[in-house]
Amino acid sequence: MAGSQGSQMAIAVSNAGGLGSLPAAMLSLSDLRTELARIKSGTDRPYNVNFFCHETPAFDARRDAAWHQALAPYYQELALDQGAIGAGPGRAPFSAEAADVLEEFKPPVVSFHFGLPSANLLARVKSWGATVLSSATTVDEALWLEAHGADIVIAQGLEAGGHRGHFLSHDLSLQMGTFALLPQIAKATKVPVVAAGGIVDAQGVAAALALGAAGVQVGTAYLLAHEATTSSIHRSALQSEAARHTALTNVFTGRPARGIVNRLMRAVGPLSAQTPEFPLATAAIAPLRAKAESLGSGDFSPLWSGQNASACRAASAADITRALMAG
Ligand SMILES: Cc1cc2nc3c(=O)[nH]c(=O)nc-3n(C[C@H](O)[C@H](O)[C@H](O)COP(=O)(O)O)c2cc1C
Repeated sequence: MAGSQGSQMAIAVSNAGGLGSLPAAMLSLSDLRTELARIKSGTDRPYNVNFFCHETPAFDARRDAAWHQALAPYYQELALDQGAIGAGPGRAPFSAEAADVLEEFKPPVVSFHFGLPSANLLARVKSWGATVLSSATTVDEALWLEAHGADIVIAQGLEAGGHRGHFLSHDLSLQMGTFALLPQIAKATKVPVVAAGGIVDAQGVAAALALGAAGVQVGTAYLLAHEATTSSIHRSALQSEAARHTALTNVFTGRPARGIVNRLMRAVGPLSAQTPEFPLATAAIAPLRAKAESLGSGDFSPLWSGQNASACRAASAADITRALMAG
């Protein structure tokens, strides 16, 4: 979970018998190397490294200006200068340089969101025997991933927190809930399927396995873990009644992702036609978020959460993993 955890949680989950994941989408190459070294010294168990593999869009000055105009009232309210908008926290797609760093560590599992990297890059990852996973949000995407080299497909249902992994179509009406999507993907593909979205406890795990899953991927239920880097504002929102209302929104990054509905989502979204393309929308949000958070407000923060935050517990990642494994 990019932005909400690092190697510490990955190590704890792997050591407890799960497959801990290191999210690499927001890491520089040197931070990626540092985090991989920490994992290497922290666990002998298998672990996963996760990358985004979107196309980096060309900067569109007109769209950027329209986005700045939409946000101008909030800049004014928070006494911020739009002239000082920087590059924002980027999300880099998997690259040859990232593959070089990976090769030093040869992680046993590598997963991707938003499709797969180029055939060349995928071949490099597979050259050390890594098992490759990627997210599918439709049966068509699962078949595409299987045909293009994914060893395991993640069926990401609409309940899931964070970014939707869709990559063949932007039509959100094609997307399904986990228990509709999972059996259809399990039937259509020959590769093992991992269920993701709304699974928060042992019963949820057992239900996913009964519907054909070979495993589960759980995000939201770990957001209050001691090892998570979830901010205190985000933690409070997850534990409040507000967490019962999530929506897909593109206002924070330019791509639909599920988060707890907050002021910015209500005011300019939750889905806006004005945002710059992913991930360029983040640049103009970053100053609003930082200023509001410094005042104790999550009005402009992405409060990523799946539809079921009810089981979020402030516990160790090992305890959360073992509770899930009972299913
Ligand atoms: C805070 C947060 C950040 C996430 N970041 C990523 C990510 O960096 N890469 C990725 O493949 N999936 C990411 N996801 C999606 C999860 O991998 C998974 O599909 C989802 O959490 C499953 O649904 P659940 O949140 O209901 O458990 C994220 C989810 C959350 C909640």
